[in-house]
Amino acid sequence: WSRTAHKRGDDLVVGGVALADLAAEHMTPAYVLDEEDFRARAVGFRDAFAGWQVYYAAKAFVCTGVARWIAEDGLHLDACSSGELTVALRGGVDPARIEYHGNNKTVPELRRVVSAGVGKVIVDSLTEIDRLADVARDLGTVQPVLVRVTAGVEAHTHEYIATAHEDQKFGLSITSGDAFEAVRRVLAAPGLELRGLHSHIGSQIFDASGFEVAARRVLALHARIAAELGVELPEMNLGGGFGIAYTTQDDPADPADLAAAMRSIVEHECRALGVAVPQLSIEPGRAIAGPSVCTLYTVGTVKPVRLDGGAVRTYVSVDGGMSDNIRTALYDADYSCTMADRRSEAEPVLARVVGKHCEAGDVVVKDEFLPGDVRPGDLLAVPGTGAYCRSMASNYNHALRPPVIAVRDGVARVLVRRETEDDLLATDVGDQE
Ligand code: LLP
Repeated sequence: WSRTAHKRGDDLVVGGVALADLAAEHMTPAYVLDEEDFRARAVGFRDAFAGWQVYYAAKAFVCTGVARWIAEDGLHLDACSSGELTVALRGGVDPARIEYHGNNKTVPELRRVVSAGVGKVIVDSLTEIDRLADVARDLGTVQPVLVRVTAGVEAHTHEYIATAHEDQKFGLSITSGDAFEAVRRVLAAPGLELRGLHSHIGSQIFDASGFEVAARRVLALHARIAAELGVELPEMNLGGGFGIAYTTQDDPADPADLAAAMRSIVEHECRALGVAVPQLSIEPGRAIAGPSVCTLYTVGTVKPVRLDGGAVRTYVSVDGGMSDNIRTALYDADYSCTMADRRSEAEPVLARVVGKHCEAGDVVVKDEFLPGDVRPGDLLAVPGTGAYCRSMASNYNHALRPPVIAVRDGVARVLVRRETEDDLLATDVGDQE
């Protein structure tokens, strides 16, 4: 739950606003964003990693209002599509504080990024180097870049398999020599200025050891570049991926502990390698946005289903589903939920919260104990939906994507309004024949 969430009588209150009142005014489903929580997490990373640059990974969730908070609170921003870039700029983020990712950036996309004055482009392939150099030359400018390398660390939450994870689309392999070759080519390209190396090892990672292994490998390459090419690169980005608690079983690290661990490994390695500590950056998305949002739903139907062995599972259908949270279906993600508008003393039943889409995999919360008298009209809140839920939301079954409503100090403000059927029909131009 976000930090301002608490029970007040029957009501669950976030940002000083009773969720029942919010639902009555704005309808459900709705994403409720605790502004104080989001900004405290952003500032928490900024301060824990003081001296580093903290890029908020906009892919987790961005809208112009959030981009404005990021700018006001002194963070940088990581964009990986033209749309994210547009929203960030519209929200007032300084282009010099934006970095741009992607494994298949097109020429028009690169022209836009370079002409917008984006601070850094993260180069992801040998193909892209020539493409970007041509664009920069054409526009008469020099584009700062980082080269994204594959550190060969596979992060499975707690488990790190060395030298694995070469078999995926991102980055340039250190072991194959592609990363070194990319560095040579960028250094030789007149339109490009190589600022450093970039590594991102994965997502929902719970301890620092994966980052330590990656940092060691990337720093070894950094030192080799200094020794063989005579260039000590001024920067290094160690990516995002800091995990959050979706259920009480998850145990995320404190940003201050992560920062201390990462700082110490980098300083130790740099000393051992005889290179200066570069300007370091990280790119957290989920750890800032995730815990600050809960999704509000209204229960529509309740159906007890007898399982093999005689147990009963109560299917509780809500007015949203996989179109506003695909993570359960896609990643088998775990969520919890709670009743938001009344208290009940009824004996708990094993419930599964499902959506209203036309497929059986449309599950929001796989298993939760809800009061046995859960009934149509009840308001349910699912916490931890701030990252990759609205940003991966779809119009499946022509569902209307829910609004994002910021709450703070007892006031609710719509940041993103609910879609309408006119929004959907705006792109459906009909059969023009
Ligand atoms: N930097 C890079 C280069 C990334 O690719 C990502 C995430 C991040 C930073 C931010 O990672 P975070 O701190 O948010 O874990 N849709 C998936 C997550 C995909 C992550 C993609 N890249 C999910 O819902 O879990």
